[in-house]
Amino acid sequence: MSIRNLIDLNQLSSEELDDIVDMAGRISRHPTHYCSACRDKLMATLFYEPSTRTQMSFQSAMLRLGGKIIGFDNPNSTSVAKGESLKDTVTVLGGYTDILTIRHPIEGAAMAASLYSDVPVINAGDGGHLHPTQTLTDIVTLRNVVGRTDNLVIGMCGDLANGRTVHSLCRSMSRYSGNSFVFISTQKLSMPQYIKDYVKSMGCEYSEVRTLEEAIPYLDVLYMTRIQRERFDSVEEYEAQKGIYVLDGKKMSLGRPELCVLHPLPRVDEISYEVDDDPRAYYFQQTLYGMYARMALIIRMTSQHETCAPVKREETPKFTCHNPKCITRFERYLPHLTVDTPKGKVCAYCEHDEN
Ligand code: NCD
Repeated sequence: MSIRNLIDLNQLSSEELDDIVDMAGRISRHPTHYCSACRDKLMATLFYEPSTRTQMSFQSAMLRLGGKIIGFDNPNSTSVAKGESLKDTVTVLGGYTDILTIRHPIEGAAMAASLYSDVPVINAGDGGHLHPTQTLTDIVTLRNVVGRTDNLVIGMCGDLANGRTVHSLCRSMSRYSGNSFVFISTQKLSMPQYIKDYVKSMGCEYSEVRTLEEAIPYLDVLYMTRIQRERFDSVEEYEAQKGIYVLDGKKMSLGRPELCVLHPLPRVDEISYEVDDDPRAYYFQQTLYGMYARMALIIRMTSQHETCAPVKREETPKFTCHNPKCITRFERYLPHLTVDTPKGKVCAYCEHDEN
């Protein structure tokens, strides 16, 4: 199996996903068996947006596989500060290396990068859109700590509007049978309609509630998220939303003994520190599974990628994406690419429709 690019985890077939999840489990049990799996490979990490875990777990993963890394975490110290386009940066770094990981504040940036890279591209988060390797991390964690990824009642709490982790997770968990979702958020930060439509189209149920207390007794998994301050238009709008959801010992006492609490981290104030000592809090183990998940992914993506043709997309010259946060608004040379969905054509970069 070889994977060309990982922009959305749902690009993988169920078999490909299972293969990576199983491999991550094997790596977690015997990490030293894989210490030269990428001996001759070089990875570039292009981080246009702050990151601790994602960047360091990619770097640790590659180094633990015997590979090497280059990259940046502050675009202001690169030619981006001189006005270099995403296309040019990616074209050059794709020439130097065997695999690129990219994190970018703008939706669709990873997909745009994949058009110009001769080597596989991994989306390490594109604005508020998707975060497939966090989802891979979450799935590996669930497989290992809960023992299954199906027939779960999954609560997602916090900034469901702007949180790319919950968008990706929701889509991927909808693929497993018997899962249902409880979205816990304010009206303003509720799950986008296109994600809810996807959940429905996969035959999964969801409900929306406003408080943690009314959801927590029924959950198998509670996925907490921070309010995404950097994605708000103003400080006032952020201030109005922050601090509304705080998971503390009292609320945990309403949860089932088998509850599994996850969080992609960083945490701000949405989980009290007292919860860290609760055996149902798995968010620190989750970060470790993230490294094993990325090790498995890198092995699969750096083997035989030259046999994979880039994904072909339809060019629709008249299509204009109206999402002000779409990469096509910032990198004007990008071709107008669309994909067909049951709702009609949507932007191939950020998935917004024409309206
Ligand atoms: C998340 C992200 O960057 O989207 N963090 C991560 O990658 N582990 C979550 C967040 O920033 O809130």
